[in-house]
Amino acid sequence: MIEIVNLYKKIERKIILNGLNLRVRKGKITIITGLSGSGKSVLLKTIVGLIKPDSGKVIIDGKTIFDLKGSELIKVRKKIGFLFQGGALFDSLSVFNNVAFPLREHTNLSEKQIETKVLNELREVGLSDSANKLPSELSGGMIKRAALARALILKPSCLLLDEPATGLDPVMTKIIYDMIDKISQKGITVLMISHNLQEASKIADFFAMICRGKIIEYNTPEKFFESKNPIVRQFVSGQSEGPIGLDMGA
Ligand SMILES: Nc1ncnc2c1ncn2[C@@H]1O[C@H](COP(=O)(O)OP(=O)(O)OP(=O)(O)O)[C@@H](O)[C@H]1O
Ligand SMILES: [Mg+2]
Repeated sequence: MIEIVNLYKKIERKIILNGLNLRVRKGKITIITGLSGSGKSVLLKTIVGLIKPDSGKVIIDGKTIFDLKGSELIKVRKKIGFLFQGGALFDSLSVFNNVAFPLREHTNLSEKQIETKVLNELREVGLSDSANKLPSELSGGMIKRAALARALILKPSCLLLDEPATGLDPVMTKIIYDMIDKISQKGITVLMISHNLQEASKIADFFAMICRGKIIEYNTPEKFFESKNPIVRQFVSGQSEGPIGLDMGA
């Protein structure tokens, strides 16, 4: 379980996280949504420790990650797979070597063992034929799937996904959402940022909306879509008229 307690983060004098609290339930799929620029990516990067908050805590399986150092920190980090917005593959490495990277960094497996694991993972995401391609030779959907394979290669207990299907056609979007659903059914906790409310609602257990640095609504998909909060209502209905102002995002 991930518990996010009272996170504050200012970037260049702008308050991005303003006392944010969220409990990510074990084995469930939680979707984070919100306006562009509202701090969703900053939140995910803070959870994995890439951004240090000004104050607040992230507690993963009972351990406060900012208190950990050295091997203890690595142990907790290895429990979490992270897919960056846009994929963030290493441009100069093949798909195979991108997916193998965490194994080479964090395990003492032999090359043969690494090969078996990587090829398995690539098969799971339908990229068996693309192991030797460079990221520049991949389509958007292939990049996302390669990034997903890399996020899963250390068999994390928790997967954080920053818009894993944005910019893809409806069929590839569905394929990726189905993959995430399958991953979750294996017991992996999923925390995912998505703007695709329709597809997300088919697999989500919970929706959380971030606005002005806080979670303003946390609920099951059904209740989320029936929210009485005028900001949530405008967001889910996609109307330009309403309480949402240009100052709320970026
Ligand atoms: N490294 C950075 N340097 C300066 N400002 C940053 C940095 N990272 C994020 N920000 C600012 O923090 C705010 C939140 O950014 P973030 O990327 O978290 O938004 P988001 O909710 O993920 O948006 P989107 O839906 O467009 O991906 C924005 O105002 C952004 O400009
Ligand atoms: Mg983002």
